Amino acid sequence: MTNAAITGWGACMPPAVLTNADLSTFLDTNDEWITSRTGMSERRISHVSAQELGAVSAARAIACAGLDVQDVDLIMYGGCSNEEVVPNSASGVQLLLGATKAASVDINTACTSFLYGLASASAMIQSGMSKVAVVVGVELISRYMDWSNRNVAVLFGDGAAAVVLQASDEPGGVIGTSLGCDAEARDTLRVRGMGAGYTGFGVTYGDMIWDFDGPNIFKRAVRGMAEASDKVMREAGVTADDIDLCIPHQANLRILESVAKHAGIPMEKVIVTVQKYGNMSAATVPVALVEALEQGRVKPGSLMLMPGFGGGLTYCSLLVRWGQRVTPLGTSDRELRPATKTALEMVNEIRSKQDPHGRSREGLMAPVFSDSKVGAA
Ligand SMILES: CC(C)(COP(=O)(O)OP(=O)(O)OC[C@H]1O[C@@H](n2cnc3c(N)ncnc32)[C@H](O)[C@@H]1OP(=O)(O)O)[C@@H](O)C(=O)NCCC(=O)NCCS
Repeated sequence: MTNAAITGWGACMPPAVLTNADLSTFLDTNDEWITSRTGMSERRISHVSAQELGAVSAARAIACAGLDVQDVDLIMYGGCSNEEVVPNSASGVQLLLGATKAASVDINTACTSFLYGLASASAMIQSGMSKVAVVVGVELISRYMDWSNRNVAVLFGDGAAAVVLQASDEPGGVIGTSLGCDAEARDTLRVRGMGAGYTGFGVTYGDMIWDFDGPNIFKRAVRGMAEASDKVMREAGVTADDIDLCIPHQANLRILESVAKHAGIPMEKVIVTVQKYGNMSAATVPVALVEALEQGRVKPGSLMLMPGFGGGLTYCSLLVRWGQRVTPLGTSDRELRPATKTALEMVNEIRSKQDPHGRSREGLMAPVFSDSKVGAA
């Protein structure tokens, strides 16, 4: 059987850092609340587009695999930060890379988009449809954050990372997947203002309001990730003792601890980046994977569990068996242009454009949502 080996990896983190102290200059919040409830101390704010973050991370992953951009036949853009919907974002990454032989696909399952993309691209390689795929996990949440809402504004950050998958006869790659969706809870996380349901009804794109039921998401996230992890390990015939590393979606340190405890995996085996990057949605798992590789924590043949959850509420858990190579074959000289503003300056600029006239928080509801339940029979 053809397998999909992960042969390249690369991250692209925007350099500007937004601290908890920065947030408390314009929100009624403080470092003690944020660190004790979430484990987060800082996050990044991007000065470039999501497509640029994605393209630089992809270029680094392709160089790491020792490949040329023309070898790539599939680009999968996992994320819900799309500068535009038509044309799609993967085509923008393709253009920036110059990967003219690739098919380009966007995949949006919110925070699980990278993991769903990794599962999908692996299946495409296993079926013979693709030979060399790049899966990007990327988010530019700062542009659609409601910076007046402390319930959400403190939680998220920007970032990107990518992996290269190659057809291989060696065993390994994604060896198990469990994907699911707790759709009854889809109302617990909604960004009002994004999407065609709002277009033409006087809503200015960028004037976002987040519906966010944090405690409910917390409970359902732990349940979804725990059940998916149990299932994927059971089906693969492995136990928690066999797992060398757990690389979960990083939404909250307390969620990571609960999922690890439920799965019976000690925290020493869990990769944690939430303290320095916050929740980067689709980018959290690939960024954590790249850091684990750079820190030498991934060994030849390591078995990894990757649980995730996100809006929808989608959830999943993947089992990945690493190959023999844990060092890059090459490096890319692609860099982001330098940032000329601090993270706080960029956020203040977004804030000033977001709420120029003191919007009505009640008014922003798409007619398709207020008249009927979407998808109701
Ligand atoms: C959001 C989350 C951190 C909140 O933590 P929590 O312990 O559940 O806190 P609560 O929601 O019960 O809020 C407690 C209080 O803190 C307040 N609060 C909320 N955000 C605050 C902030 N940034 N600073 C200070 N106080 C804040 C609330 O208003 C509430 O006050 P009240 O009790 O007077 O009403 C937590 O529920 C969580 O991480 N949920 C998962 C959500 C998630 O990650 N979603 C991403 C989807 S991929």
